[in-house]
Amino acid sequence: MSWSTHVLLVTIFLSLLSLLTINHSLVDANQRDNLVVVTVATQITEGFLRFNRSVNLYGLKLEVLGLSQQWEGGDVAHRPGGGQKILLLKKYMESVKDQKDLIVLFTDSYDVVFNGGLKEILNRFHSFESKLVFSSEKFCWPDPSLESEYPKSDGKRFLNSGAFIGYAPTVYSIVSHKNIENDDDDQLYYTKIYLDSKLREQHKIKLDLLSELFQNLNGALSDVEIRFSQANEIDETNADASLLNKLYQTNPIIVHGNGNSKIPLNSLGNYLAKSWHPATGCLSCKENRISLDNLPVEKYPHVLIAVNILKPTPFFDEWLQDLESMDYPKERITLFIQTLTDYHSTQLEQFIDDFKGYYQAIRYKSTKDLEWQLRNRYLDECPRIGCDYLFVWDTEGRLTNPKTLRALIEDNKSVVAPLMFRNNELWSNFWGALTHDGFYSRAHDYVQIIKGERR
Ligand SMILES: *[C@@H]1O[C@H](CO)[C@@H](O)[C@H](O)[C@H]1NC(C)=O
Ligand SMILES: *[C@@H]1O[C@H](CO)[C@@H](O)[C@H](O)[C@H]1NC(C)=O
Repeated sequence: MSWSTHVLLVTIFLSLLSLLTINHSLVDANQRDNLVVVTVATQITEGFLRFNRSVNLYGLKLEVLGLSQQWEGGDVAHRPGGGQKILLLKKYMESVKDQKDLIVLFTDSYDVVFNGGLKEILNRFHSFESKLVFSSEKFCWPDPSLESEYPKSDGKRFLNSGAFIGYAPTVYSIVSHKNIENDDDDQLYYTKIYLDSKLREQHKIKLDLLSELFQNLNGALSDVEIRFSQANEIDETNADASLLNKLYQTNPIIVHGNGNSKIPLNSLGNYLAKSWHPATGCLSCKENRISLDNLPVEKYPHVLIAVNILKPTPFFDEWLQDLESMDYPKERITLFIQTLTDYHSTQLEQFIDDFKGYYQAIRYKSTKDLEWQLRNRYLDECPRIGCDYLFVWDTEGRLTNPKTLRALIEDNKSVVAPLMFRNNELWSNFWGALTHDGFYSRAHDYVQIIKGERR
């Protein structure tokens, strides 16, 4: 074969290949357009960013309603409310109500994480043979007296309006069925429609009783657990964790920390949406990091280090050594040293004398205050001096890695702490879970975190 035919063949082959690729992406784009995820978020919170990350990770199309608008739907964490969500959705639906093949997946955002993509969502929706599927939960809220009007059924019987999926014309007729005010309750609105058997049949409305698509976590924490795909089947890119509903043996895709389950969702959310896997460790931790490496010293964030000496501390000289050798420009650090004991005053005065020319400033206060007063004081001091970061460091805690402060800043989180523990004890500086009255509770992964098996 001559050189030129070779080139020609290669060219033809390449153009065939690109044609195929184009077709492939067209199909993908069409399918993608069949589903739109719609949510209401009046502010960008960390919960919203977690939601947005998960929706984007699975390549779903997202429509965010209400951004930068005033929230007038009431305090929905504690009372009925949320009618504003329906009003915003209604306005949006007016623009798409005639697209009869469009499937609209409405969810809350601050307390929702996706753990799957388009194909699974559509497959499961179609398997309901319904036009509108609501998520369901164990509690009949906000009007428990409606319980007797619900059809008898297995599973979690009561409608939750934090997540539903349906065809655009159906969703439009539901949200425009009746007038609603901003602070009326959205769940009650949808519940009344569902409980009207004529409307329910006319619109083919169903509940996802067995969590095939949606998992509401309130009251259901003991029903679910995180499962990891087999380590030998995976590589970096398809490492995955799923949420198993043990009661129904389903793998719900849209996970909603409704009601009292917002904090448990934070813990489960550490694994969902390809955030963590035993084979890869924490994948989401590698995102959105910043680097201090090439910054000129004067551009380094200004850190207030609040040094707290609550009682005479063993190895105090070594502690001062940790502080001094922290790998961070001292001219960008203000030290705010407070002590409740005079035990170390000689060492402290010597330290201040030696280093006062190096740090941006050193403030030293010996006080007989209570601990909480001391702690409030550095919270006030930080904004007063215009610090960028507050680093709280009690002398009981040894940080022997001089890169600790840099590493924490480079994580680019609004609040972050190093994991500190006592050798061979389960004590540590964090709580993985809370009881309902806000006290310590053992998280499902606490021991693995302390042992460094999950990091
Ligand atoms: C959601 O994430 C996408 C992709 O990272 C980004 O382009 C978009 O601005 C985010 N949306 C909001 C409202 O922050
Ligand atoms: C740091 O975090 C903020 C807030 O989450 C984000 O907007 C920013 O993009 C992050 N920086 C980098 C470099 O990713």
